Amino acid sequence: MRIHPFEFTLEHYQAYASIRQAAHPESPLNLAGLKHLDQTRAEGDLLERFLVEQNGQVVGMLEYATPYYDPKPGALEVQYYLRPEAQNLQAQLWDFLLERLTPHQPQELWAQVRENWPEYRFWLEQGFTEVERRWPSVLDLAAFDPTPLVRPLPPGIALASLSELPWQEEGFLRALYELEIELLGDVPAAEPITPWPFEVWQKRTLEDPNLLPEGFFVALEGERLVGVSMLFKSHRPQTLQTGLTGVRKSHRRKGLALALKLRAAAFAKAYGARYIRTSNHQANRPMLAINEAMGFVKEPATVFLRLSPVPQRPG
Ligand SMILES: CC(C)(COP(=O)(O)OP(=O)(O)OC[C@H]1O[C@@H](n2cnc3c(N)ncnc32)[C@H](O)[C@@H]1OP(=O)(O)O)[C@@H](O)C(=O)NCCC(=O)NCCS
Repeated sequence: MRIHPFEFTLEHYQAYASIRQAAHPESPLNLAGLKHLDQTRAEGDLLERFLVEQNGQVVGMLEYATPYYDPKPGALEVQYYLRPEAQNLQAQLWDFLLERLTPHQPQELWAQVRENWPEYRFWLEQGFTEVERRWPSVLDLAAFDPTPLVRPLPPGIALASLSELPWQEEGFLRALYELEIELLGDVPAAEPITPWPFEVWQKRTLEDPNLLPEGFFVALEGERLVGVSMLFKSHRPQTLQTGLTGVRKSHRRKGLALALKLRAAAFAKAYGARYIRTSNHQANRPMLAINEAMGFVKEPATVFLRLSPVPQRPG
């Protein structure tokens, strides 16, 4: 076995995608999304990725990095994927990771895996413990009838897509950022998130190759943004991916989130998509209630795992 650094070339990205395809065909790598994440890393973020070769064939990848969505100081996120025939390399990869990690002195390691993947069992065996779960779920638009769910909007509220708004102007973007940060703070999660600074959010959002301004909806009361629900393009065929849905506390239980999601579903259908995917914390009863009412079907959960303290392994 040989482990060598990932070079961020097309060839290495394709090797990564083929490993992921072999390891988890139901959950292929979002190649464009990954490149975008890599290119919009914040200053000071750590990102070390490697490819694993055996008998001259690339059979796996592994990495440790500052958690992208929640860059908490002292935390590093780890992941690995191995082709099914190379699963027996897990323990060697773990030794390699610990040696490489030790100089960075992380206080905790995070991993995110589906509950039905072999990586889940492996991380548990290394002492990782479960923090929380999310349910990925999917709505088949071919079988979806919104009619029984439609209600009139409350007076004074309008829905609009980004493409209908001055979404490239700084003033608007600052208001959207403020709304998203407020709502992210309200998402029920085991720990509060560390929000991205405005400039990082702006770059990551506006330059996202999957951004779809026509499928990104906000609820407005006059000029004030009070809610949001967004769809992104997806690497999965015939699919759009939901981002954040949220409504300010002052405007909840008036049917705004449902109205935004129904508007997004109507857009998806007109766009020619067959499926909408989303992912929700298992503790998020309000959001799950809406998705269940719409007919989203749950898949095996994504489990968030943590290891602390991190074993020291001087090289
Ligand atoms: C989840 C959230 C978006 C719901 O917004 P909302 O505008 O209040 O939801 P709606 O008014 O459209 O609710 C529609 C239906 O969903 C269900 N529902 C909504 N909130 C609920 C709650 N707190 N408890 C139980 N059911 C709830 C109800 O059936 C409701 O219909 P009803 O009010 O006639 O009973 C809002 O609570 C929120 O912004 N939460 C924080 C952000 C978040 O967690 N987003 C999801 C991240 S993936």
